[in-house]
Amino acid sequence: MSTSYVHGYSEKEATRLCDQAETLMEMLHRDTLYPSGSKVLEAGCGVGAQTIALAKNSPEAAITSVDISLTSLRAASHRIGAGGVRNVTFQHADIFDLPFEDDCFDHVFVCYVLEHLEDPLTALDRLKRVLKPDGSITVIEGDHGSCFFHPGSIFARKAIEALVACQAKNGGNSLVGRELSPLLHMAGFRDIRVSPRMVYVDVSRPELVEGFTKKTFIAMVEGVRDQAIAQGLIAEGEFDRGVNDLYRTAQPDGTFCYTFFKAVGLK
Ligand SMILES: C[S@@+](CC[C@H](N)C(=O)[O-])C[C@H]1O[C@@H](n2cnc3c(N)ncnc32)[C@H](O)[C@@H]1O
Repeated sequence: MSTSYVHGYSEKEATRLCDQAETLMEMLHRDTLYPSGSKVLEAGCGVGAQTIALAKNSPEAAITSVDISLTSLRAASHRIGAGGVRNVTFQHADIFDLPFEDDCFDHVFVCYVLEHLEDPLTALDRLKRVLKPDGSITVIEGDHGSCFFHPGSIFARKAIEALVACQAKNGGNSLVGRELSPLLHMAGFRDIRVSPRMVYVDVSRPELVEGFTKKTFIAMVEGVRDQAIAQGLIAEGEFDRGVNDLYRTAQPDGTFCYTFFKAVGLK
């Protein structure tokens, strides 16, 4: 990972990741069910926002969740313990230097991690090494280019573009969702299936207005405000107007749309 992870490791970001996971749990996790006794590697588990869903949906699977950040692992361990989950082991590890033997996991799960890596292809290659032949990899990523909303606003667009540019400056790619199929192919996986998962938000879905538009997406844009302005990617006034206009889409006459991509492939 690049040294300055664009969203950072703050308490606010941990809350955002958990809000996002809870809001999208059914949409993203409903078809990820691992059989009893299977060994699953969750790579880049962060503060454990997805780990809870993984573990609860597959209570008989043995899940090993790794992250490069010790602070996040500690938070994840605390969260999982409080949730009464017993089938997860946390381990400090770098995806690029995994401390596991070849072919030792039945399944690998990765969510919102490739977007932060300078070299996602090598990461997939390293994950493939520890996966058993015929084992599956599941990768979930967003794509900020998939975002559209009403009322439209060039300032909101500029603020989102500043987020994309910030992430790119940090070595990441927040448009990676559209690349999952080619990346998995290049990494040598087979039987790859990618399913777009669209979140559509309007006044009839108040839980998504709060949980997705405001607490997930706008919170993510707001999170890069200082970086984006300091790096000269956008003027302060334009950024703030853009964020205001994004909040406008969360009003009763506004709408907001975003697409995640979920890819599954076999080794
Ligand atoms: C946006 S967070 C996603 C966390 C979690 N998967 C989720 O969906 O909430 C990205 C995580 O990837 C981790 N990460 C980045 N590069 C890594 C690497 N080389 N090895 C292990 N973890 C890494 C970061 O520390 C961070 O916790």
